[in-house]
Amino acid sequence: MTVLVTGAAGFIGYHVAEALLARGEQVIGVDNVNDYYDVRLKEARLSRLAGRNGFTFHRIDLADYDAMSALMKDAPDVRRIVHLAAQAGVRYSIENPFAYVQANLVGHMTVLEIARHQPNFEHLVYASSSSVYGGNTKLPFSVDDPTDTPVSLYAATKKADELMSHSYSHLYRIPQTGLRFFTVYGPWGRPDMAMYIFCKAIVAGKPIPVFNHGDMRRDFTYIDDIVSGILASLDKPPVVSEGVAPCRVYNIGNHRSEPLMRMIGLIEESLGKKAEIDFQPMQPGDVKESFADIDAISRDTGFAPTTPIDIGVPKFVEWFKSYERV
Ligand SMILES: NC(=O)c1ccc[n+]([C@@H]2O[C@H](COP(=O)([O-])OP(=O)(O)OC[C@H]3O[C@@H](n4cnc5c(N)ncnc54)[C@H](O)[C@@H]3O)[C@@H](O)[C@H]2O)c1
Repeated sequence: MTVLVTGAAGFIGYHVAEALLARGEQVIGVDNVNDYYDVRLKEARLSRLAGRNGFTFHRIDLADYDAMSALMKDAPDVRRIVHLAAQAGVRYSIENPFAYVQANLVGHMTVLEIARHQPNFEHLVYASSSSVYGGNTKLPFSVDDPTDTPVSLYAATKKADELMSHSYSHLYRIPQTGLRFFTVYGPWGRPDMAMYIFCKAIVAGKPIPVFNHGDMRRDFTYIDDIVSGILASLDKPPVVSEGVAPCRVYNIGNHRSEPLMRMIGLIEESLGKKAEIDFQPMQPGDVKESFADIDAISRDTGFAPTTPIDIGVPKFVEWFKSYERV
């Protein structure tokens, strides 16, 4: 089986590509390796995949449909896609909104068109986000809850992806699964996310910015749990039946909402150094709490996360120390 993985130089895409290769699949990785965060980290991830049996990589911008279409003409055996390329980050969508339109809307459109024209296509799994729940206060967030009031452009583009996907499933019977990821962390993680930013600042003896005066909670999901959920979903495409679009959306989280200050405490313990905390007000576009109801994905795919932050955070910090040489 050959799987197209978009965003293969990214945090989650790199781990998914590794896991697919480990179980003997062929992987075609695509990424534009943009400089939203340090390109050296993306290159370091790619260098761990390069040369692995079954892996090929193409540096393409997904907004370039012609380039993607030409690539797929030479890969008629791709019947599954894991689409993870996107402009991520809630806060950056305030600074550079057009990056989100290009990557998350035009890019998603490209992937849908690719899936539509691919012979014998089986399944498209794509990344959505817990941010689609906006400022919802009913917890945990359930896939049946309303998601019509995003509080960031990033969230709006992810919700738009879900809607675009539904229309393509309805029109062209393309089996699709959208996964709403909840704060993913772990080795090879993103330097624009809080855990990495905190570690870097603590090591440098600088204060860490803590928003909403520390009154935040997140459902932190360890990367290995995310990868097993992605693969379990990929292996169980929605059934194509008369009159129903073969399209579904799942939450994929750890099903524990942890106080941000507890995560910081675990980082301090793992680094053996206290943080200097700079409490700040809530940031525009941010949400106070996230908490995933994972009943649907657990029921349908057997997804069962196994990594609490007490185990996951020290693993992240261990990787951080070796990568950053501290
Ligand atoms: N990490 C999380 O906590 C989290 C939470 C919710 C949703 N997500 C979603 O999961 C997916 C993967 O996130 P990640 O954490 O690995 O982010 P990431 O930024 O590490 O990976 C995304 C990759 O996509 C690539 N990319 C961006 N625009 C592209 C384009 N136009 N063409 C080709 N490649 C492009 C980037 O270069 C990057 O390598 C994204 O869709 C993101 O929105 C992540």
